[in-house]
Amino acid sequence: MKIQSIDSEDLPTNTSQNEHFQAVVKRAVDRRGFLKFGSGAAVAAFLAGPLAACGGGSSDTPATSLLGFKAVAANTLDTVTVAEGYTATTFVPWGTPLFSTGAGSTWSGTGSETAADQARQVGDNHDGIHFFAIDGTSSSEGLLVMNHEYNTTLSPTFTDYLTLFGPTPAPANTLERVNKAINSWGCSVIHIKKTSNKWDVVKDSAYNRRITAATPMQLTGPAAGDALLKTSADTTGTEVLGTFNNCGNGFTPWGTYLTCEENFNNNFGTTVDTATDGRTVSMKRYGITAGTSGYAWETQLDRFDYKKEANESNRHGWIVEIDPFDASSKPKKRTALGRFKHENAAYAFTKDKRVVVYMGDDQTNDYIYKFVSTGTYVEGNQRANANLLDTGKLYVAKFGTGATTGDFMGTGEWIELKLSSIPSTYTTYTFANQADVLINARLAGDALGATKMDRPEWVTVHPTSGEVYVTLTNNSGRTVADEANPRTSNIYGQIVRWRETGGDAAALTFDWDIFVLAGNPTVTANVGTTKAGSSNVTADNTFNSPDGLGFDKFGRLWIQTDGNHTNTGNYAGQGNNSMLASDPVSKEIRRFLVGPKQCEVTGLTFTPDSKTLFINIQHPGESGSGGSTWPDGGTNMPRSATVIITKNDGGVIGT
Ligand code: FEO
Ligand code: CA
Ligand code: CA
Repeated sequence: MKIQSIDSEDLPTNTSQNEHFQAVVKRAVDRRGFLKFGSGAAVAAFLAGPLAACGGGSSDTPATSLLGFKAVAANTLDTVTVAEGYTATTFVPWGTPLFSTGAGSTWSGTGSETAADQARQVGDNHDGIHFFAIDGTSSSEGLLVMNHEYNTTLSPTFTDYLTLFGPTPAPANTLERVNKAINSWGCSVIHIKKTSNKWDVVKDSAYNRRITAATPMQLTGPAAGDALLKTSADTTGTEVLGTFNNCGNGFTPWGTYLTCEENFNNNFGTTVDTATDGRTVSMKRYGITAGTSGYAWETQLDRFDYKKEANESNRHGWIVEIDPFDASSKPKKRTALGRFKHENAAYAFTKDKRVVVYMGDDQTNDYIYKFVSTGTYVEGNQRANANLLDTGKLYVAKFGTGATTGDFMGTGEWIELKLSSIPSTYTTYTFANQADVLINARLAGDALGATKMDRPEWVTVHPTSGEVYVTLTNNSGRTVADEANPRTSNIYGQIVRWRETGGDAAALTFDWDIFVLAGNPTVTANVGTTKAGSSNVTADNTFNSPDGLGFDKFGRLWIQTDGNHTNTGNYAGQGNNSMLASDPVSKEIRRFLVGPKQCEVTGLTFTPDSKTLFINIQHPGESGSGGSTWPDGGTNMPRSATVIITKNDGGVIGT
């Protein structure tokens, strides 16, 4: 997501002296003398150029490749371009009515709906998404649940959008405008059904639901009720209004949806004595900026004013569990999973069937975490599984350079975020109790020596090997250059993977590797440098800023980008943001789809038969000028929307 000219995630708030991952990589290279990229490229090849020892990226596909489609060339068209033999169909754009009568039952075409209308329509800025089959197996009827990360048309920060598509001059913020924004954020639960090969919304279904930035929800787990979660409106510290900045997602094996609260800091500001900062150590660490906020919700609602309600921001930045099959259920903010700028959540089982949730904190120099439940999963017993995410241990990743058991580059350890482990030498912040450790998980990670990463975005777990992959989108905001690092300016990003010791997700140690170092080998100045990328990056598949990530059940790794879409300079030849697929064995990467202008491609989910893929196109035309009118075309304003992808021969996606 973008606020003004730079993502707020790009601004580091980590003041610790913890080691950065790039320094760990450098040490690993120095120690072992080589990097295993592609089919075993030596470090000389890694440093000298992208394809010197290329083992992948060729159009000569091995017969065993998981990638069965023909690569799509990069482009800058204002449309969705998908691989030959596939069809992409726009679905449920922002403003789609979920009900046939009453407020919001029609879309005006101009976004002129009221706040009350918006509360009954699909929200804006689609992101994480999951298809829940209606009976657990159907591939033609289900609940499509998705995140709406923010709103581009109602936010004072999006001046280009307002100038081009909104009233002129842009209207002043009002309570109605803020409430409309609030109702366009959050999640949608949409009952959908395929008839005669066409998917439609089942309007008026009892499942249809909007969860917004004002929906009542419950804080659960070890931090619920803590003093730091109490406000004047909720003296119990257990009841919260709303979820917002819902970025990536997860889902559980017991049929619930996990929505991940990311850039909540952007929604807090103050109108009180703005010349005085007034932020706490914790607020600064979480990126709340002094004075008025870009969204200016605090001008209308006191709870978003950090000087009036100091604890309200502590009630956001969690993972929220939603039962999509019960529209009256109260979403639960699971405090055991820690508070940070959650990107997504990927589950795995330990060998003894405890539940593990892997999570990234998307900010420059922030960390990777995992939660391990105390209880075990019981197949088919919803009651036993319902609160598994309330009790367990939370760990943060520390990467190192020990000897690995295979061909990976280094080792790592999981450090438990535990009050008794906080060293007495740590004086930046004083934790009151274990609840405080969870509420201020970032500060606990600082104290415990976690490894700084380049903006961890989505995490995904291989369906059979259990290896975990994470996108480190880029570090374009990292201001402290460290010449010891192999690539101090990581503008293209990378995908890192690790395997838990003994193949058990409960392990406290792991081996790690770099799966792909993104880069651009078509830029002359990059040739011979690490900016050309690893050996599986080619002129045909070059991309920047990997973000969305997910395995399908066959082990294909799907990669989505949210990066620079100018197609010039360092990004020449990369075109609009796109979706690629990779075979994790050969490491070959192939572009599958290109999004419309100025969008990000994000979120992915398949029907159980793997023959329908749903993805999201977020903020087409985000830069305003020269932008997009996708998907409606003509002179219409651009809208975020879902895209349904099918193979024309009715086959499995990706084959
Ligand atoms: Fe909302 Fe880090 O992407
Ligand atoms: Ca993202
Ligand atoms: Ca991103």
